[in-house]
Amino acid sequence: MTANIGSKTIRVGVIGLGYGGETAIRCFQQVPGVEVVALAGLEEVQLAALGGMYSISHLYRSYHDLLAHENLDAISIAVPNYLHAPVAIAALERGLHVLCEKPVARTGLEAEQMVQAATRANRVLQVVFNHRERGDVQVLKSYIDKGELGTIYYTKLYWLRRRGIPGVGSWFSSKEKAGGGPLIDLGVHVLDIGLYLLGEPEVVSVSASTYHELGARGVGFDTNESKSGAGHDFEVEDLATAFMRLSTGVTLLLEACWASHGRAANDFGIVLYGTKGGAEIYAKDNRTTDALRIYTDVADVPAEITPQSPPGGFHQAVIHTFIQRIRDGHWSLYNGSDGLRRARIIDACYASAAEGREVILSPL
Ligand SMILES: NC(=O)c1ccc[n+]([C@@H]2O[C@H](COP(=O)([O-])OP(=O)(O)OC[C@H]3O[C@@H](n4cnc5c(N)ncnc54)[C@H](O)[C@@H]3O)[C@@H](O)[C@H]2O)c1
Repeated sequence: MTANIGSKTIRVGVIGLGYGGETAIRCFQQVPGVEVVALAGLEEVQLAALGGMYSISHLYRSYHDLLAHENLDAISIAVPNYLHAPVAIAALERGLHVLCEKPVARTGLEAEQMVQAATRANRVLQVVFNHRERGDVQVLKSYIDKGELGTIYYTKLYWLRRRGIPGVGSWFSSKEKAGGGPLIDLGVHVLDIGLYLLGEPEVVSVSASTYHELGARGVGFDTNESKSGAGHDFEVEDLATAFMRLSTGVTLLLEACWASHGRAANDFGIVLYGTKGGAEIYAKDNRTTDALRIYTDVADVPAEITPQSPPGGFHQAVIHTFIQRIRDGHWSLYNGSDGLRRARIIDACYASAAEGREVILSPL
């Protein structure tokens, strides 16, 4: 079913005042024909400050009040993970389009309820997968889609930090509020990139391990990072590793780490091996340029190519797509099911780690 919102101004409410919320405000305000009319969050001083800085006059402490009092077309959710499902479902039931920060939810079950609510309401539910919008990931995607690497059979993806547990005692440390540690926080980004690059194959089985060694000893917190919530014990993993078999026969290895005694400070990476060529993105300290290399044979001699890629659009590109989808009117195509697929894989990783065995995923 299609719907027509025409060229009218799209009225957006943003929920959350941290990095996710402020980034959303800034990016929505860059899109012509979009107005951020309302903002909600618990921190009174920050709420007033952001309201003033971005000229948003309708300010709320509670997301319930924002949804009840505003005449909106869409909301942007950047609150702790345990609130993603209730906020999204409440908004979808009011007929609003929803942009939701990653991970879509704490579990596959919550994600499924969100997708069902989007389908029932016939509204867009889109998850913020901003790192696939890196310029080098986009260049690599076009290499792969043009067949330049041949058939890809092996992939390794990682995001590793040395001292990167977000905020001392913040909600990120709470199993109940976050749903997990670096696997659900950083791993979901690299999992998204891997599945996106490979053309969305099914994950057939996973074997994962998680570790809870440093955070629980008070080591590895990023004390420069300010996150909401305080006094939470460190209950989640600080390192996760997973071996996945894909329906295409490809192997996908994933590592996600907030804290370790290792070389990485905050490093993101991808390794792909194909029959005609390989590729590597090594983004030391998350650098956004000069990180991609292509390895292939030229005149039968191993060669290394350094493609020139732009830094990429990140959140801005995601938000541009979200608004485009609302305007295009084919809302039923975008019900958040990509987020659901990733949530089910992460569920399977946590189950595998808890049970110490391989977990087989049933097809959706
Ligand atoms: N895509 C990315 O690159 C990226 C980066 C950072 C965070 N995130 C995601 O964004 C979300 C928020 O993370 P953050 O780092 O901004 O967290 P944060 O702790 O800095 O901010 C969370 C905000 O949620 C608000 N909040 C909590 N309960 C609320 C309620 N009941 N009503 C209204 N507001 C409420 C808090 O007041 C706070 O302003 C998370 O899901 C996180 O995974 C994504």
